[in-house]
Formats: sequence, structure tokens, C-alpha cells
Amino acid sequence: MGAGHPSLVILTGAGISAESGLRTFRASDGLWEEHRIEDVATPEGFERNPELVQRFYNDRRRQLGTVVPNAAHLALAELEKSWRGDFLLVTQNVDDLHDRAGNQSLIHMHGELHKARCQRCGGVFRWEEDLGAMTPCPSCRALGELRPHIVWFGEMPLEMDRIGEALERCGIFLAIGTSGNVYPAAGFVRMVPRTARRIELNLEASQVASAFSEHRSGPATVTVPELVRELLA
Ligand code: OAD
Repeated sequence: MGAGHPSLVILTGAGISAESGLRTFRASDGLWEEHRIEDVATPEGFERNPELVQRFYNDRRRQLGTVVPNAAHLALAELEKSWRGDFLLVTQNVDDLHDRAGNQSLIHMHGELHKARCQRCGGVFRWEEDLGAMTPCPSCRALGELRPHIVWFGEMPLEMDRIGEALERCGIFLAIGTSGNVYPAAGFVRMVPRTARRIELNLEASQVASAFSEHRSGPATVTVPELVRELLA
């Protein structure tokens, strides 16, 4: 950390991408784009109906071609470029809007739509096309073993060690557009030092709102650029 420059950790959720046109998860009775979460976001759902799950993520992956980063994503990219202390952006989102905005110190803790993983050899591959039930693994050639590189319910989020270390050293923690329903992400605010500034930016108070020291309510495209201007002033 640069002397006098606090270490910054930012957690984002579906709310930051809402104004780009991607639906959040808990907006409509536990349904995600008309599907029950248990059907499309669990290993059991994939085992029961791989075609449905592949089709679902194929649709989500294609949808990325129709959306662009919004003012909140762009402000966080600017913040990373200009911030003089340590910086880590942890997103629960599987979209690529933070990547396209230009953030580099970025962890996709719930995986990425643009990656596929082989259940046979464990290889992880950049993936732009549709995945089919019989798409061969580019590395081991196994058939029917490629799945979206998405962390489903009951699976371990990615890079938890690196995230834990950053949280322990954190001087400012921001949580943007996340409902605080899904752990371990919802518990991050309680893992930072008690002296850290802990700011929640959301349309409404989240499930873990009481653990924050400050709240900014409003749409992310307004509150995030405002806060970034303050932090860089
Ligand atoms: P949720 O859908 O649970 O919550 C979205 C949050 O964003 C809510 O608290 C909304 O109030 C807020 N919100 C909506 N529009 C906003 C806007 N324009 N500006 C600011 N805030 C806004 O999404 P997550 O918390 O991201 O996991 O959900 C966590 C995880 O649950 C996801 O990563 C996903 C899901 O199941 C996996 O896919 C593994």
C-alpha cells in the first residue's frame, strides 16, 4: 500500500449491471429470466437437464453482445487507474461489463459466461460460442463434459484466499448493487477491519445493511460516479 493511501476493496452484484439492461436475480420471485434458480444454477439442475442449462447460459452469453458498460462500470475503471493504494474489484457478476470497462485488478468470484470448464480434465477455456451437450473439450477431447464456468449454489466461489487477504488489509470497502442474500460474499463486510470505511451503494437497504458505516441510496449510474469523484478529489 502507498503511504497514506488506503487499500480499497469493492464488491459488486447484479445491481451494477441492471442499468445496462441485465436483469437482477431477486427482482421477480426467485426467478432468473423465467427459470427457477434450482433448475439453472445448481449442479443437480445440470445433471437433471444439461440441455436446458446449456441453452440458458448460451442465451445469457449471447445477451452480452447486446449490452455495454454503464457509467458505474466506467467510473470504477477510472477509479482503479487513478487510485494510489491497493485496489481489488470482486464481482459476483458473470457478465463481462467490468472487463470491458477496463478494470484489471478484477476477480469474478462466481465465474464468467465467457469461459467453459471441462469436468473431465479441469481445463478452463475462453468461450464465445454456444455450448452444446456434445461439444468436445478443446484439450482432452472428451464429449459432453464441458460446462459453463459458473459457480453454482453449493459450489466454492473462486479465489477466496486472495479475496480474504485483501479484505484483511482493507481501509475502504464498497458494496455496490448486491442484495446480501448470498454467502460468502454477503459476509465480506464483516471480514474487514472495524476501522475500515464500509459504504453500501444500493437502491434499497440490503440484508446486511447494518454492518456498513455509510449508505448511499440511488441508481448505481448516479451514486457510483459521485462517490468516485469524492474518493479521487
Ligand atoms: P440480487 O438480484 O440478489 O440483488 C441485486 C441488488 O441490486 C438488489 O439489492 C437491488 O436493490 C440492487 N439494485 C437493482 N438495481 C440497481 C441499480 N440500478 N443501482 C443500484 N442497485 C440496484 O443480485 P446479487 O446480490 O448480485 O450467483 O446476487 C448474488 C448472487 O446470487 C449472484 O451472483 C448469483 C445469484 O444467484 C450465482 O449465479 C452463483
